[in-house]
Amino acid sequence: MTDHQTVPLQATLRWQGDAGGHLLLLDQTRLPGEVVDLPCHTVEEVWQAIKRLAVRGAPAIGCAAAYGVCLSNPDLDSALKACDYLATSRPTAVNLFWALHRMRQVAKQAAGSPTFADQLLEAALAIHAEDRQMCAAIGRHGADLFADLPEGSNFLTHCNAGALATGGDGTALSVIFEIARRGLRPHVWVDETRPLLQGARLTAWELQQRGIDCTLICDSMAAKVMQEGRVQAVVTGADRIAANGDSANKIGTYGVAVLAAAHKIPFTIAAPTSTFDLELATGEEIPIEERAKEEITHGLQTSTAPAGVSVYNPAFDVTPASLIRAIITDRGVIDPISTKSVHRFLAT
Ligand code: MRU
Repeated sequence: MTDHQTVPLQATLRWQGDAGGHLLLLDQTRLPGEVVDLPCHTVEEVWQAIKRLAVRGAPAIGCAAAYGVCLSNPDLDSALKACDYLATSRPTAVNLFWALHRMRQVAKQAAGSPTFADQLLEAALAIHAEDRQMCAAIGRHGADLFADLPEGSNFLTHCNAGALATGGDGTALSVIFEIARRGLRPHVWVDETRPLLQGARLTAWELQQRGIDCTLICDSMAAKVMQEGRVQAVVTGADRIAANGDSANKIGTYGVAVLAAAHKIPFTIAAPTSTFDLELATGEEIPIEERAKEEITHGLQTSTAPAGVSVYNPAFDVTPASLIRAIITDRGVIDPISTKSVHRFLAT
């Protein structure tokens, strides 16, 4: 019998040892072919791991960065420098800055204490543990939201918002896992997610590991499966949500939302409250990471474009709140979505 509770064989990230220990990351650049750990003993190694997506996904980046601070010299100056440095690794996911802000506060409070390093590690472990709990809560709220859908319903997801992207069971995939736990046999259409194939390499792998029925499609096929009436709901993660509900997520998400609207399919976002950035009024202010052109021209380890071609490679796009039916968070579901409802929801 399939056990939907089974976690991936290796945790996405875990700390080894005491405050003098190190961080182990499941190297996501090697999946699905190889399941290997990447040990990080220095702040620089964690920065590199985040930059080259060995660890990725908004909440997981936040957890990794928090642990990264624990690898600096155990003094205030070094910890603050580590925070500033790790903040330069990737610009879009706000969870990174959220986690580093917390680490900065703890470092300042613990300055000069003989237990400085222990307090930093305690804070990083707490951020990780809280994320695990937030993922579980998102799963429950999302499964409740979709409770009216019949058994065997079809969901579509984009990129990877599963255990690999978080400190827990995921955001969008946590919803799927919870629906499966309730015995409702969900089926998931997995967008391949060009150019780095997080859907094909990571989401399909995770769903297989958990025995969840899934079908991989190229991004360009989403319109067809929707047109065929084979998608009942879309659920994706988010990297940063502005005060009005506009949500940044992996490039291609906006297109999926437009398609879902055209086919009258509910498009939903699942994200922890740490993904909201109330300092930004709308999604237009969200910084969008641009990545190396080689990810498009040589993404499959071989040249797939003529040498010298001009390339534009934004890693994220912003889905306007008007296209989002509901935002599933660890504290419940935001629906309808407006600046007022988001503020009111987060204030409670
Ligand atoms: O570039 P990535 O792989 O870090 O992008 C990840 C995503 O876009 C995820 O959907 C998002 O971070 C949510 S993860 C729970």
